[in-house]
Amino acid sequence: MTTDTTNLPVLIARARAMVTTGKGLLAIDESNGTCNRRFASAGIAQTIEMRRDWRALLLSTPGLSRCISGVILYDETIRQTAADGQPLTQLAHDAGLLIGIKVDTGAKPLAAHPGETVTEGLDGLRERLQSYSGMGAGFAKWRAVFAVDDRHLPTRACIAANAQALARYAVLCQEAGLVPIVEPEILMDGPHTQARCEDVTEAVLHSVFDQLVLHGAALEALILKPSMVLAGQASTARNTAAEVAEATLQCLRRTVPAAVPGIMFLSGGQSAEQASAGLNAINLSGEQPWPLSFSFGRALQYPALQIWAGQAANRIAAQDAVMHRARCNSAALTGAYGAAMETV
Ligand code: 13P
Repeated sequence: MTTDTTNLPVLIARARAMVTTGKGLLAIDESNGTCNRRFASAGIAQTIEMRRDWRALLLSTPGLSRCISGVILYDETIRQTAADGQPLTQLAHDAGLLIGIKVDTGAKPLAAHPGETVTEGLDGLRERLQSYSGMGAGFAKWRAVFAVDDRHLPTRACIAANAQALARYAVLCQEAGLVPIVEPEILMDGPHTQARCEDVTEAVLHSVFDQLVLHGAALEALILKPSMVLAGQASTARNTAAEVAEATLQCLRRTVPAAVPGIMFLSGGQSAEQASAGLNAINLSGEQPWPLSFSFGRALQYPALQIWAGQAANRIAAQDAVMHRARCNSAALTGAYGAAMETV
């Protein structure tokens, strides 16, 4: 069984536009809880107005669309208007950015599997996708999360449950005329080795593509958003960008069909510079079956958020910082990123 093909040419063209040369995605789809935690650590008030102002600041960064093809919004944001009354979707549209929407309802504890989660949100998803499409969304995102330890995690149950949910989400998106971003994130916390991360990433991606095929997803009309393959943050090992590139590409080549139009990495808690360096090394590693780009949240936003600190007077400096990271990551798509870009 395959998906209805009526929407396919449009979806394929849109997926390609998302990974068009020199561009990536800006993820600003943090749930209110996650956004508030990040605001709290930057000393910013955790209010609906501050979340609105931060997202409006990002969306109106001058020149953003030179490096960014689209933005991923959260439910609150896609319905929100800026302080001057303009809908935030209008800001994105005027900036020439494709609009995406996070549609999962979060990672919830997986019964009988301590320490693991399954991402929920399938109930009512068909109707929600229709409504987001009516609000201007052209693509969607669903994030599954996998905790890693040295032996047991992730369990086969956790991999199977999340892979099936990702596949069911993906076909519902394609049916509704939205390009699905399929995001299986291998968490960076923990003391695991890079080799363990590689094994886990490979097992997860095998299962995800197995389920996508089983459920009839059109591989040509989706984007994969994986994590880079690296040692856990609590391990003493630190991988070079070249090591990250080698392990990540080996894993992707073994698991991701060439029909997939693009791979757009999450940053996952790497520093902004590390994420750019990893992406750069990946793109310096010779020709691959797919364009390899970015769909970063923290690695695009974090330096700018510290500068903004919730103060209107810092708005332009914060936009400069966002644009700087966008330029660095755009350069990384051609292997042109380097330390010299960080000193100007
Ligand atoms: P990070 O780049 O901060 O990992 O966020 C990307 C994202 O969309 C997480 O779901």
